[in-house]
Amino acid sequence: METEFMSIAAPLLENPMVAGLSQYPHHRGKTRLDHVKEVAELSFHWGKRLSLDCRAIVRGALLHDLFFYDWLHEGPRLHGFRHHNIALRNALQVTKLTEKEADIIKKHMWPLTLMPPRYPESLVVCLVDTFCSARDYVRNRV
Ligand SMILES: [Fe+2]
Ligand SMILES: [Fe+2]
Repeated sequence: METEFMSIAAPLLENPMVAGLSQYPHHRGKTRLDHVKEVAELSFHWGKRLSLDCRAIVRGALLHDLFFYDWLHEGPRLHGFRHHNIALRNALQVTKLTEKEADIIKKHMWPLTLMPPRYPESLVVCLVDTFCSARDYVRNRV
């Protein structure tokens, strides 16, 4: 399972734009690269259990927060409502995306983005992202 994950993830992780996420803090004590990898791994796990398109899940998850600013201190106003579109634009500079992969990135902040996820894969990444983010904050509070 780990081999399959890495064969999908490696080409993106080797890309300089994606690797550059290691320079940005995301949630307390974690870089954005840590975060997207964590979301990709857990989403892959659920994708396998639910027999979904794991290639789209891993690629979409690795690219879902592809933006280059410290969102707590800089970047556009209303970051939460806007960064999915920024990430999608940046992701298209990294690789070609299928419709499903684009939907995963575009809808990962649902329900903030009013349009709901179109594919089960998008819903999995959206829920796992919310779970991982919440866990980071709860853990850091203890
Ligand atoms: Fe995000
Ligand atoms: Fe995220």
